[in-house]
Amino acid sequence: MKSFASDNYSGIHPEILEAIQHANQSHEISYAEDTYTEKTNALFREIFGAKTEVLYAFNGTGANVIALKCALLPFEAVLCAETAHINADECGAPTQSTGSSLITIKTPNGKLTPELLKAFMSRKGNVHNTQPRVISISQSTELGTVYSLTELKALCSFAHENDLFVHLDGARISNAVAALGVSLKEATVDCGVDIMSFGGTKNGLMIGEAVLIFNDELKKYAAFYQKQTAHLFSKNRFIAAQFYALLKNDLWLRMATHANQMAAFLAESVAGLPGVTITQKVDANALFVIIPPHAVEPLRAKYRFYTWSEDTGELRWMCSFDTTREDVMDFVETLKSLII
Ligand SMILES: Cc1ncc(COP(=O)(O)O)c(C=O)c1O
Repeated sequence: MKSFASDNYSGIHPEILEAIQHANQSHEISYAEDTYTEKTNALFREIFGAKTEVLYAFNGTGANVIALKCALLPFEAVLCAETAHINADECGAPTQSTGSSLITIKTPNGKLTPELLKAFMSRKGNVHNTQPRVISISQSTELGTVYSLTELKALCSFAHENDLFVHLDGARISNAVAALGVSLKEATVDCGVDIMSFGGTKNGLMIGEAVLIFNDELKKYAAFYQKQTAHLFSKNRFIAAQFYALLKNDLWLRMATHANQMAAFLAESVAGLPGVTITQKVDANALFVIIPPHAVEPLRAKYRFYTWSEDTGELRWMCSFDTTREDVMDFVETLKSLII
């Protein structure tokens, strides 16, 4: 099957598979006390700073849940975009697991701004309101847009001035950082992010995400939350080994850059076609588009993709580390044959 549905439709990058195979030797201490986890944690600290605490999770929902539990009491709340994965696509896991609530905010492009958040600060201190405590942003966003460093710094300053923590859902942080052309550290901890998930599965891993904690205040119960939410993997070496291969020699960057380039190529190839409108800025590896309605199902018969909004007819096309130029060209030719 060929697909532009999601970057998690793709398989495993060969170097990652090789790393799993390499870790499959002998016995190792279980529950993340193995030598692979130790080496990978050290590599994460080299990249993000010596104070970084690292935990692993099976999936992105789990990583978000662990991170949010670290930062919230049950009467506190998370401010997030309406489109945030934690709101729209996690079956209520963050609220069920933390007992906290989500305050969702409409945005034109998936991005929060201090201006959008200001109105909610009057709730702070009022016993009748859940207390805003976390700003959660996704980078890149669910609409394929990327926060600039200036935007990130402004959000983090606003958060800290208002006694809020910043959680970054980094399921696609690699694509965002590849687009920004800075280091992982510059795009996260240096901007003031307190806690984040670092995506693996959408960028060539078989399984695994990491939770990175930068703020000391959030570290105390993290390991207990990881275990209680069922994300402490007894054979963690197999997750850690994948992250080691991803981070070492910038495999993360090579894969994310490629996926972004394929999305840019796709955007440039469909821009200007009759009846085709690109609805969001193509900053990373996703495109949001409207195409003539009669072409949607015939195109979908050949390539999987999602309808993002039944109301507007907006579609989401996503590229992955293994999308090829030929895949894009064939997709575009099929689209053209349906609409021209
Ligand atoms: C922004 C974002 N966060 C988190 C996730 C993690 O999801 P999962 O629990 O399916 O790994 C996804 C997956 O689509 C996502 O798009």
